[in-house]
Amino acid sequence: MDPLIAQHVPALAAFRNWLDATQLAEVLSLYDPYAEEARESALRRDLAYLPDHLAALTRFLVLGDDLPEEHLRRHVPTELRGTLAAVGLDFAKHRLIRHFDLWIFCERLSPAVDLYHGDDSVGLSRLMLPSRGRCLDLCAGVGTQGLLCAQTARSLIAVETQEKAQVFFWLNAVLNGLAAKVEFRAGNFVDAVTGERFDHIVCNPPLLPVPRQVDYPLVGHGGPDGLDFTRRLLAVLHALLDRGGRCHVIGTLLGGPIGPDLSEWEHTSKITGLDLLAILPFRGRLAPGAPLFRSLVASATLYAEHRRPSTRHTDDIGAIQAQAEQAYRQYFTDTGATHLYSFFLCATRATGPSGTFRCTRHFMESRRMWGR
Ligand SMILES: C[S@@+](CC[C@H](N)C(=O)[O-])C[C@H]1O[C@@H](n2cnc3c(N)ncnc32)[C@H](O)[C@@H]1O
Repeated sequence: MDPLIAQHVPALAAFRNWLDATQLAEVLSLYDPYAEEARESALRRDLAYLPDHLAALTRFLVLGDDLPEEHLRRHVPTELRGTLAAVGLDFAKHRLIRHFDLWIFCERLSPAVDLYHGDDSVGLSRLMLPSRGRCLDLCAGVGTQGLLCAQTARSLIAVETQEKAQVFFWLNAVLNGLAAKVEFRAGNFVDAVTGERFDHIVCNPPLLPVPRQVDYPLVGHGGPDGLDFTRRLLAVLHALLDRGGRCHVIGTLLGGPIGPDLSEWEHTSKITGLDLLAILPFRGRLAPGAPLFRSLVASATLYAEHRRPSTRHTDDIGAIQAQAEQAYRQYFTDTGATHLYSFFLCATRATGPSGTFRCTRHFMESRRMWGR
C-alpha cells in the first residue's frame, strides 16, 4: 500500500462511516452520471433546496467551494478534515464522486487534469459488470473501474503510468474497503503484466484522435486515429486472457458518413483467435464548427495554454488554436473522417484458432458518446 495512505487507514475508515451517515450518497444518486458539467450546474442550482448540512457537504466535497471556517466546522468534524488534508486532498483541485456505490476521489475536470473521471469512466463501468476471478484494469487512473471490479472479483491489478495516481488509488481502495485484494502497478500499459493471465480485463485508455503536430493531455491522447492503446492491447490480448476470460475496452473510431471501417478488427479477430463484439452506439460530426470538432481543438489549445511558457516557443494562444484547428482539419480531410464513433469492444478467447467478429451499428447522433 502507499505509505502515506497506510498511516491513515483507521482515520479513513472513520471518514467513510461518517460520510455514509450524512446521506450525501442518496442525494448524489439523483443526478445524471453521464453529464459531468450538467451535473455540476444542476447540483449548484439545487443547493438551495437541500438541508443545510447536505448543501454544505456538497459545496465542500463535490463542488470545491471555499466555505468559511466557521461554516465548515459546523458541518464537517475538524479531525476528519485533518485526515483529508493529511492525505493530500485539496478541494480547490480535487473532488469527491459517487461512482455507482463507490466513493472516488479524483481531480476536477480542467485542461490540465491528470487524475481523471469522466463520462467515459461511467460508460465503461456499466458495460463491464459484474467482474469475476483475477481482474486487470489497464490505464487505471485513480482506480474507478478496477475498484468496481474488485467488489466482486477475487483480485485486481491496476496498471497506470502516472505514479502520482498511486496515492489516490490506495486512498479510494481504503475508503471503499477493498485494499486487501488490490495491487497498484506503476507501469507502461500491457508491458507491466507480461506473462500473466486474467479472467477479466477492463480498459478505458486515452482514446481521442490527435494528429501528430498537436499537443494533447495524456489522459486523452490516443494517437493519430485514437486507437494506439486498443491496437497494443488486441495484439497481446489472447496471451493475457485465461480460458473463458473476457475483456471490455472502450474508445473512439474515425469514420465516414456510413460508418467506420472495421476490417482491421475483423482481421485481428481471425489471426489472434479472439471473438470480438463491437458495439457502436453514438457518433458526432467532425465538420469544423461542429461541437465535437470545437471541443478537440479547445482541449488542445487550453492544454498548450496551461503548459505555456516553459514548453512553448510562442505564447500566442490564437496561433496555437489556429494550428490545432488546421492540423485536425487536414487530418480529417486526408483520412476521409466525417464523424467520430464511440465504441464498446467486448473480447473473449475463441474456442478455435480463428475468432469471429460481430458489430452493432446504431450510430445515434449525439453530443454524448457514452450513454443516454
Ligand atoms: C481516460 S483515462 C481513464 C482513467 C480511469 N480508468 C477512468 O476510466 O476514469 C486514461 C488513463 O490512462 C493513463 N495512461 C496513459 N498512458 C498510459 C500507459 N502507457 N500505461 C498505463 N496507463 C496510461 C492515463 O494516465 C489516464 O489515467
